[in-house]
Amino acid sequence: MKNTIKGAIVVAASIITIIVYVSLFLFIKFGLITVDNFFSPINIIWFLFLIIISYIIFSFLSKEITRPINKLIRNMRGLLDGRVIESKKIKEDVKFVEIDRLMDRYLSMLELIKRNNLDLNSQQSKTEIILEQMADGVIAFSITKDIVHMNLSAKELLGIDERFNTFEKIMIKLGIEVDFTQIMYLPKQKSETCRLTTEDTVLNIAFRPFFNSGDIPVGVIMVIRDITEREKLDNMRKEFVANVSHELKTPLTSIKGYSETMMMSDDLPKETAHEFLSVIYKEANRMDKLVHDLLQLSKFDYGKASIKMDNFTISELAKNVIAKMQFTASQKEHTLTGHFSSGIKVYADKASIEQVLVNIISNSIKYTPDGGKIDLYIEEKEDSVEIREIDNGMGIPEKDLKLIFERFYRVDKARSRQMGGTGLGLSIVKEIIASNDGKIDIKSEVDKGTEIIINLQKAK
Ligand SMILES: Nc1ncnc2c1ncn2[C@@H]1O[C@H](COP(=O)(O)OP(=O)(O)OP(=O)(O)O)[C@@H](O)[C@H]1O
Ligand SMILES: [Mg+2]
Repeated sequence: MKNTIKGAIVVAASIITIIVYVSLFLFIKFGLITVDNFFSPINIIWFLFLIIISYIIFSFLSKEITRPINKLIRNMRGLLDGRVIESKKIKEDVKFVEIDRLMDRYLSMLELIKRNNLDLNSQQSKTEIILEQMADGVIAFSITKDIVHMNLSAKELLGIDERFNTFEKIMIKLGIEVDFTQIMYLPKQKSETCRLTTEDTVLNIAFRPFFNSGDIPVGVIMVIRDITEREKLDNMRKEFVANVSHELKTPLTSIKGYSETMMMSDDLPKETAHEFLSVIYKEANRMDKLVHDLLQLSKFDYGKASIKMDNFTISELAKNVIAKMQFTASQKEHTLTGHFSSGIKVYADKASIEQVLVNIISNSIKYTPDGGKIDLYIEEKEDSVEIREIDNGMGIPEKDLKLIFERFYRVDKARSRQMGGTGLGLSIVKEIIASNDGKIDIKSEVDKGTEIIINLQKAK
């Protein structure tokens, strides 16, 4: 049972009063105190003794009151210094109800602060994690142009470290001129952007002010975004449109020219008319092939290509393809030979694999000088079936090899176009092999020949 401070003071005062009262009574009774000897040395000593007793009683009482309060002050100081404190202990040996209540209030306030602090900390670490994980670079500058935060992506994208700790240093390093004050006073939601192009990256940099709770600008945020891929895709798209238009325009111009000439002249000799018509037919075919190829590629792009995976005998398919292409090969006096045992099975889409074989063999026929040698090998490997198509043709220069599977890419544009090529054959082959979960590789040497290696899944 704890006492109240008021109660304790009343008790102490009562005790002192009783002592004084009783001692006065005894002193008077035994004649020690009379009006004459009231200030005698013995009485003064006695009164001093009474004062000491009162002092002892009150100092004991005040110690009991102030000890827990001092403990509380120390605890609060610790809290302000950010130290972790064992708050439960402050309630030990509290003897008064009021102080006990004060401690209870303090402890519950402490709990609340701790909880809020925890929330704040987790919020802060969450923000920090997000900033660190961001692919975009983020740098925050204070009003004094010093860096207050810089994430890893910013360092990587700009190729800088902690030594670049001010706005100026970074701008000098990047070689861009931006007016910090002007950004500071940009309206909310507005930003200033610039583009930084280096040898192999394109960066988009945005600057905008950030504000305190009173909507006063307190710094500048710089966001760096790597737009190299986007830029590349954008260029590819533009290039693609330009290529398609160009590829369509060439045959269209001839078709238009020849048909116009035919319409204008009434007495065109039959042979010339036939010649013109065959050109028109050839060019129309070319356009037809181009549109067909583009549609096929677009189906792969949108995941709409019909790929029906199944087990089938690749050696039989290859035998048929070779037989079908023998005639075209013989027109250029090539020898086209298959080297494989019968019964080799794969798990793939038969129709598209047939197209792959036709595309690569027709390339070899086209790009090998007359009288060349084209061989098709099929072998069962440990975990796949390997197809190797080898010719001894003109080959592909090393610098072109890595681009050969790109759409419209041709080593010699004029020559290939003359042969009726649009540069889409190998890109279709690549898409087909990828959608059959296979692999494709190419090796080539100028004037020696080309080898295409394809790996398909074994039959299941
Ligand atoms: N076997 C090969 N030997 C030498 N060069 C080749 C060979 N195969 C392909 N190439 C080169 O690669 C380019 C791209 O081939 P791809 O099959 O994609 O297009 P294409 O044959 O020009 O046209 P398409 O196949 O659409 O009719 C060709 O233009 C050619 O320059
Ligand atoms: Mg081709």
